[in-house]
Amino acid sequence: MLLDFATKRRATKNYNPDMFLKKEDLDYIFKVINTSPTSAGLEHWRVLCFRNKDKKNEILSGINEGNKKKFLDSSDALLFYVKKEEWFKNISNEDFYKIAKRNIEQVNQTFHKEITEDQIQTFMKRIRVDDHANNDHNLTEWSKRQAYIAAGYAFLAAKEINVESTPMEGFNEKILNKLLLEKGYINNLETIALIVLLGYSDGVSIPYFGKEQVRESIDKKFKIIY
Ligand SMILES: Cc1cc2nc3c(=O)[nH]c(=O)nc-3n(C[C@H](O)[C@H](O)[C@H](O)COP(=O)(O)O)c2cc1C
Repeated sequence: MLLDFATKRRATKNYNPDMFLKKEDLDYIFKVINTSPTSAGLEHWRVLCFRNKDKKNEILSGINEGNKKKFLDSSDALLFYVKKEEWFKNISNEDFYKIAKRNIEQVNQTFHKEITEDQIQTFMKRIRVDDHANNDHNLTEWSKRQAYIAAGYAFLAAKEINVESTPMEGFNEKILNKLLLEKGYINNLETIALIVLLGYSDGVSIPYFGKEQVRESIDKKFKIIY
């Protein structure tokens, strides 16, 4: 049952530096992540998967001290990066246009309607201006939230195939963005959102804090409004 994996999953603090995920296991996790929903179907995030230690070292200065060892020792560090506010606001953004068109076509298909240019423009304007002005949203933060949903899928998919994982916010966004930009991994309309480490614990160092998950009880956290 999914609940069994979810209960056994822990934020892993130490990894075996010599153990790597099989390619098919990594592909399985990618496939599960790729099913995660995104707001308005805009697929705000992309993932850089760092496995090579030298490449990890090139961006290590962007990782917080307490996370450096686990970042290096993990098999794979998934860097989720997302589209920034500027990406959405860029009027000549063809990628945004293509995604808008694709998503409207999907809706229209259901209702047997032909797509119009006006529909596409209205959709993009709604994202750029209307929805977010009403809710005082920042589009970059909105994008990052989509990556967090995807990461949730990653942790569970990993545990299902006995892969350990760590959610990792402990990095310096400015430094990491600068390094990723310099290396050409991201562009200036994109920013790092969060990191997911994957790997195996080493059987020597303590893999997790405490013996098991510590959570408030269900009745304290959930309230059904009848
Ligand atoms: C968004 C997010 C960011 C986190 N960042 C870090 C981090 O940078 N380094 C780390 O060791 N653990 C990090 N954690 C792990 C938490 O400390 C951990 O999930 C929490 O203590 C509960 O542990 P458990 O999930 O094993 O029960 C993060 C967790 C989340 C959800």
